[in-house]
Amino acid sequence: MNVINKIDLRIDTDGNPLLEGGYAPIDQEVDAADLSAIGDIPDDIDGAYVRNGPNIQRQPRGRYHIFDGDGMLHSARFKDGKVDYRNRWIRTEGLAMEQEAGQSIWPGLMDMPDRSLPKAWGSHHWLKDVSNTDIVPFNGRLLTMFYQCGVPYLLDAETLDTEGPIDADGLKIRQVSAHSRTDLHSGDFIFFDYDVEPPYMTYGVLAKDGSLKHFTDIELPGARLPHDMAITDRYSILMDLPMFWDPHLIQRDIHKVTFYPDLPSRFGIIPRTGTNADIVWFEAEPCYIYHVINAWEDGDEVILDVCRMRTPEPPAERLAGSIYASLIAWGALDAQYYRYRFNMKTGATKEGAVDDQFVEFPTINQYFQGKKNRRSYHAYIPQGEPLRMGGIIGFDTDTGQRDEYIYANQVYASEPVFAPKVGATSEEDGYVMTFAEDMDNDGQSELHLFDPVNIAAGPFTRIPIPQRMPMGFHACWMPGSLMA
Ligand SMILES: [Fe+2]
Repeated sequence: MNVINKIDLRIDTDGNPLLEGGYAPIDQEVDAADLSAIGDIPDDIDGAYVRNGPNIQRQPRGRYHIFDGDGMLHSARFKDGKVDYRNRWIRTEGLAMEQEAGQSIWPGLMDMPDRSLPKAWGSHHWLKDVSNTDIVPFNGRLLTMFYQCGVPYLLDAETLDTEGPIDADGLKIRQVSAHSRTDLHSGDFIFFDYDVEPPYMTYGVLAKDGSLKHFTDIELPGARLPHDMAITDRYSILMDLPMFWDPHLIQRDIHKVTFYPDLPSRFGIIPRTGTNADIVWFEAEPCYIYHVINAWEDGDEVILDVCRMRTPEPPAERLAGSIYASLIAWGALDAQYYRYRFNMKTGATKEGAVDDQFVEFPTINQYFQGKKNRRSYHAYIPQGEPLRMGGIIGFDTDTGQRDEYIYANQVYASEPVFAPKVGATSEEDGYVMTFAEDMDNDGQSELHLFDPVNIAAGPFTRIPIPQRMPMGFHACWMPGSLMA
């Protein structure tokens, strides 16, 4: 293992659980070639499993939330039956400014905005854009995004070197949400953002060469906080969900996320390069949704599969207590697999739960995004813990079968990915994998490989990672054939 960069990481956690244990940041960037494995390393995949996540570099200004942590990528690069590991921070503009200053500049998500600062990002323009949330392939590179809207960063898919932010001003776009979508078939990057000032949402498409193909404003009844979107072959699905910042308190710069159970959920289906006038809005039961599983067209219907929160806003008793109670309560996700059917002819919505297990961070074979998929893979979320992924759960929606592997120990797994074999001939022709940090074993981290149709059998190969990998957010499979 070669240490490429080591920083002087000194953090007083002040008892903040999201800076300790499985969440604690690491202090170095390393390269490690040709990792040893317990089991066989497949020689029929070519690409990288790359995971984004927070890894703060210096003492936070206020009450640290994991969405505030400087983005760091961890990559397992598979080629010719060998695996190389490396990790790198995302060199964001905000990180460079803080390195120059020698201290944190911006308050975090749990703090009051500091309007005296010369520059900030996010949908209310007060956060540091750490680009730590999602990651997708785009234009031969990796593209990273930020929880509360930021400017996406492009990174080299082999070296993880940061090329820099996309030129949003030059493209005349605003920001991009935590989740926007790359269509691997066309190469299009389909994106939206939201803001507290009108237009409350924008929507657009970047062509695979990075040029702007389409951009338009979307009308909403007020400022909203949608986290994700979906695509089908012809449409995009945008969300107007009844959980957003209290519009009265926001006037006083207080950002109180509030669920409004008397308002419907609304789903806007827009042709990929359509305008606001082309949107067909469907109403559904009030809810909140962090993550989309997939969507596709089926005759007159558009089907949308999601992880839908059972309790969008934590109950008051879980918000009270220590200064970190609300931070932990909001991180406890109780989402379940849920399906919507929107009839484009009649305007009718059908909706209902598919399964009752607690699952989040869904993934599918990305070549099936926008098309009918049969299988999806999710992180199991143990209840009462903030964002710990405690297992892998596969669903077969053709048979209704659930296939699960739950870690026995205090393991922090990752968003799983599906890695298709080179020349794959079916949806499940490949492997499912996750990184797993075992806090009952000094944080020993491993890469675990699963059979996509027999997750319950457990990992058939375990590949020790030569350093601890803290808890992370979203991940992707970057096919070698797409690397620039
Ligand atoms: Fe997310």
